[in-house]
Amino acid sequence: MKIKSADFVISNSDVSKCPKEPLPEYAFIGRSNVGKSSLINMLMERKNLAKTSGRPGKTQLINHFKVNNNWFLVDLPGYGYARVSKKDKKTFQKYITNYFEQREQLVCSFVLVDIRHEPQKIDMEFMEWMGENGIPFCIVFTKADKLKPKAIEKNVGAYLQKLLEDAWEETPRHFVTSSNNSFGREELLSFIDIINTD
Ligand code: GTP
Ligand code: MG
Repeated sequence: MKIKSADFVISNSDVSKCPKEPLPEYAFIGRSNVGKSSLINMLMERKNLAKTSGRPGKTQLINHFKVNNNWFLVDLPGYGYARVSKKDKKTFQKYITNYFEQREQLVCSFVLVDIRHEPQKIDMEFMEWMGENGIPFCIVFTKADKLKPKAIEKNVGAYLQKLLEDAWEETPRHFVTSSNNSFGREELLSFIDIINTD
């Protein structure tokens, strides 16, 4: 898919205030610092469309971007960031779960996990919650530039195996990406393109 335009639309913490236009929507979610905002910039070929930072907790709101004037891409805050207060954490998680439960035009979400790490409980629980609520998602392994091809293959295999052991009947579709060298860009965008033109 060729990206002709990518425009910021609105940020908020209330799903009812998200854009009303009934366009297909794709959201990026995962632990703080996993690389959600960087991946969005990489996909859109824009350096600073979504705000990134080396410090976790950068993205705090639901951010809508309109792509090619016919679909939305959504950058979300990360989960599992320990430095926010307990109360903030609750409201924070609540508006994210509201978003997933209520956003009708959400077609598919991408759950990002760092390819270097073993499966983390918080990600497993999040995917389980998505499954229980019937919210379609793919897994996106990030930061592939940090590993050699053999290690990538090993870690991805182990991750998918763990999901099967955790009683998933089949593993979700997955992508391997790097925002540093654009690995996986075409594959992920083609996937969205195919769904959009179906
Ligand atoms: P929050 O908004 O805080 O939840 O984080 P995020 O998931 O949006 O992560 P962000 O894109 O801000 O990136 C976090 C850090 O990881 C930054 O220092 C990025 O430069 C780095 N990073 C992101 N993607 C990659 C990647 O593909 N490769 C490498 N090596 N670093 C990456
Ligand atoms: Mg972010």
